[in-house]
Amino acid sequence: MTYQEAYAKLEKYGQLHVLKYYDELATEEKEELLAQIADMDLALVEACKHKSELNQKGKITPLSAMQLGEIEARKEEFTAVGLDAIKAGKVGAVLLAGGMGTRLGSDAPKGVYNIGLTKEVFIFQRLIENLMDVVHAADTWIHLFIMTSDKNHEATTSFFKEKNYFGYNPDYVTFFMQDMAPATDYDGKVYMEAKNKISSSPNGNGGWFSSMMKWGIVDKIHEAGIEWLNVFAVDNVLQRIADPCFVGATIVTASDVGAKVVRKNAPDEKVGVMCLEDGRPSIVEYYELTEDLMNAKDENGDPAYNFGVILNYLFKEKVLEDIVAKKLPLHIVEKKIPYLNEAGELVKPEEPNGYKYEQLVLDMIHELDSCLPYEVVRNHEFAPIKNKTGVDSVESAQALCKENGIIL
Ligand code: UTP
Repeated sequence: MTYQEAYAKLEKYGQLHVLKYYDELATEEKEELLAQIADMDLALVEACKHKSELNQKGKITPLSAMQLGEIEARKEEFTAVGLDAIKAGKVGAVLLAGGMGTRLGSDAPKGVYNIGLTKEVFIFQRLIENLMDVVHAADTWIHLFIMTSDKNHEATTSFFKEKNYFGYNPDYVTFFMQDMAPATDYDGKVYMEAKNKISSSPNGNGGWFSSMMKWGIVDKIHEAGIEWLNVFAVDNVLQRIADPCFVGATIVTASDVGAKVVRKNAPDEKVGVMCLEDGRPSIVEYYELTEDLMNAKDENGDPAYNFGVILNYLFKEKVLEDIVAKKLPLHIVEKKIPYLNEAGELVKPEEPNGYKYEQLVLDMIHELDSCLPYEVVRNHEFAPIKNKTGVDSVESAQALCKENGIIL
């Protein structure tokens, strides 16, 4: 992109301050800035002007889950179907590891965090160990696609190389990067993080499939004959990946997507819950759950919105191609954003000072015709690490690993 083109683009979106230091930049730095301007979706930030109108929910009604009793009764049937699909190479796994993990407070990718107590046990290692259980059971390697971002790609890929992929077959591991979105102040003016760099952050975990398309990975998926993609978060160290019983249940029920869910531990627990929204599967976030919904009961007298998602979804690949063209809703999130002040010095704020712009994987569910919420035993499969201490922390995950006989 030429300077003139960059100028025109910035002018269109009221962001000309991005060029404030242009004249004092070295040639290479100028090129970097122009390339970033060319790449960046500046139209996104316009959304902050009508923030309150975004993401209005439709009519919420309950969606029942397949519960533990039924799963146990049909375990053999589901597992056989799932294992067949895995053995036939029809199931791939997608690790979402592009997040910043700010709550954990480490600059390194979350997956390289060592949760070991008597030895090194990295988060990535825990996930690979879990996936290996299925590799052994099915006697076949499973394609693993790992999403990183501009902020952690190099650190993630070199960590896997250094650790020899924790024994996984590198031919079955493919990295790809998600897109970045600009970060702005409350008026939608993009911040600068350096004189030649707009502040940016990963654009949320909802862009994973479009990024896979962009990176040519979807062609690879077709060549490999993969029909199902199990998308999961990096931070749940008890995550069961490509779980044959879950795969089988999703296939047998002819669902477009299966979603692992756990029974909520309190009506106001901070997890998104499965529901129908205007008759289609959806997830209502905990902060969108009204008192009425929180206390609503189903026909058996049980809480009607009682199953929380744990970011483990099995998507039919074919339907993803249909929905990717549709624009997912944008979420505008208040965050602390490092920025250059008027004097051109980098400031790391202690309090939130602006917005990041994200799309979320959970919004994909609403685009699909059918979803199977599939209950799992919470203490066996859900040990998220969001914080250093307290709820959903390294400490709580360590305790849950211990409970499951995992030596750390
Ligand atoms: P979180 O919503 O917990 O965000 O991510 P985070 O960035 O990891 O952590 P905080 O909020 O900054 O503390 C849930 C999952 O989605 C992935 C994360 O890596 C994690 O697996 N994710 C999140 C992405 O892959 N990309 C993103 O842009 C955001």
